[in-house]
Amino acid sequence: MPIKLKNNFIVEIKNYLKEKMDNQLYLHSIGTYDYSLTLLNIHLDYYLNNLCSNNRNNIRINKLNKKKKIYNQVSIASLLHDYGKIYTYEEMIKIANENNILLSSFEKENRQIIHGLIAPYLISKDLNIKDKQIYKAIRSHTIGSNKMGFIDKIIYIADKLEVNRNFEGIENLRKLSYKNLDLCLLEVYKSNIIYVISKNYLLHPNTSKIWNNICGGLKNATK
Ligand SMILES: [Fe+2]
Repeated sequence: MPIKLKNNFIVEIKNYLKEKMDNQLYLHSIGTYDYSLTLLNIHLDYYLNNLCSNNRNNIRINKLNKKKKIYNQVSIASLLHDYGKIYTYEEMIKIANENNILLSSFEKENRQIIHGLIAPYLISKDLNIKDKQIYKAIRSHTIGSNKMGFIDKIIYIADKLEVNRNFEGIENLRKLSYKNLDLCLLEVYKSNIIYVISKNYLLHPNTSKIWNNICGGLKNATK
């Protein structure tokens, strides 16, 4: 059953983004939020049940509290995943340099990647958000990461499949996202790599490691 959030904070973020973002980016952020919540409503109970049954250390898990926490983290991360894009490329580089945000030379030169890497600093500074899981999900929404958890996967997939996106095969990927998150992540990641190569863009040096991790993770597919 979907949880009803205390919505004030989410409404405040939406209003704030409407002021700060151009219309296209704002609609994409809302689309990613909506898609993330759709995926949560489908997969969260299954994820939590697994978490409880694999709880070898017998740590007491309050399912309802955990559910609320995940809803909040996913709501905030999905709305703010592209927050870095309200800054120009030059501003992003300046912010990274001035705040010791470590970026490789590849990341510094790549506008499509840098916005996700500086966003945790920006949402902490501008919106006082201090949640490491939210940072991790936002940081990994562009190139993925080696250890993508449930929330990271939801944000990564929702960003690529939200209602305003349109590319060949997207409907099949959407159907897959309702059935199997891990398999969907694999297929979305694959289609991203194919897209990057088809455009003759550079692949991030970590891509093959992340791809291998996603493939290996499928052995532990949760659904
Ligand atoms: Fe995005």
